[in-house]
Amino acid sequence: VITIPVELATRGYDVVVGPGAAKGLAGVVAERVPTAQQVAIVTQQPLAGQPWFAALDPGLPFALHTVPEGEVAKSTATVEALCRAFAASGLSRGDVVVAVGGGLVTDVAGFAAAVYHRGIPYCNVATTLLAQVDAAIGGKTGVNLPEGKNLVGAFWQPAAVLCDTDVLATLPPREWACGRGEIAKYALLGDPGLVAQPLEEQVAQCARMKAAVVAADEREGGTRAVLNYGHTLGHALEAASMGTGDLRHGEAVAVGLVFAAVLARRLGRIGDERVALHRQVVAALDLRADLPEGVDHERLLGFMARDKKAGHDLTFVLDGPDGVQPVHGVGPSDVLGALEELSCA
Ligand SMILES: NC(=O)c1ccc[n+]([C@@H]2O[C@H](COP(=O)([O-])OP(=O)(O)OC[C@H]3O[C@@H](n4cnc5c(N)ncnc54)[C@H](O)[C@@H]3O)[C@@H](O)[C@H]2O)c1
Repeated sequence: VITIPVELATRGYDVVVGPGAAKGLAGVVAERVPTAQQVAIVTQQPLAGQPWFAALDPGLPFALHTVPEGEVAKSTATVEALCRAFAASGLSRGDVVVAVGGGLVTDVAGFAAAVYHRGIPYCNVATTLLAQVDAAIGGKTGVNLPEGKNLVGAFWQPAAVLCDTDVLATLPPREWACGRGEIAKYALLGDPGLVAQPLEEQVAQCARMKAAVVAADEREGGTRAVLNYGHTLGHALEAASMGTGDLRHGEAVAVGLVFAAVLARRLGRIGDERVALHRQVVAALDLRADLPEGVDHERLLGFMARDKKAGHDLTFVLDGPDGVQPVHGVGPSDVLGALEELSCA
């Protein structure tokens, strides 16, 4: 296994990546939360039935709590239900929550841990590729409101993150694609050679990059914004295809990455070579870069203008001579032009 430290002043922790990494759970709990006498495992029903789940051992007595599937489960109601179940099982301040699942479980269990008793320790056992390369690392926890995604949350760092690549054996193909979208992002942010590496190294390299960005900007004041690379159009595509299930997050991000390159070229920030590299990386990860058929460009522009990361003008994270950076005040005509280029490619 590969151990990657997330270096934060008082809350640093390790991300452990590799086959069998989850076997270290009992050791991690004992070392990082020595006060714990019991564990609240938060997961989802289908996961509790997987063969690898039975082998998980937190080394202490534990209660199992399940949350439903899908984004609707990322709600304040789920957090209340979890906190009430924690209280009913006598979970105290010195005890620990262990989230076992994808980004949905780590977001909601992490947020419940952040607010229960005003904050108790938690560890993430990340079981999707997306959670292993991104969501489980960095301490952004939260839930959705009917008014929007991730509107309620907290920065609450885990005590440890275990990314066991063996558990990915049961992951459905669409979920793999979702994680590959984020791998494409990290490849383009720093290391395009990543796409040719074995899985364990890909996960470890993404975790290293996420750890470095989080260490530099724990609360998303500045540089952490580069992690939104490809996400402005990605979110708009997800919003436009809402409910149809046509496009998963990572698939939308892949399109968003190539769009961002095309837009950066229109703005004179990069040349053809970089655009070609974006297309190569996305294709090497077996992802598509074309806009879904029939999607209305003006509607996408509307969604992008509302993107919370955009503030009030159109802001994109774009490649350029000094690397990938937020660029403010992008003109709507350039955005529409780039969408047109993408549909004609
Ligand atoms: N906090 C962050 O920094 C951050 C970053 C990116 C995304 N997110 C959040 O992550 C969430 C998406 O996470 P996700 O893509 O991991 O989806 P998910 O957690 O909903 O998991 C997707 C599906 O895969 C199943 N699954 C998980 N692990 C499995 C395994 N090993 N074998 C078989 N099935 C398995 C789950 O039960 C679920 O049905 C979103 O809510 C998003 O907002 C958070």
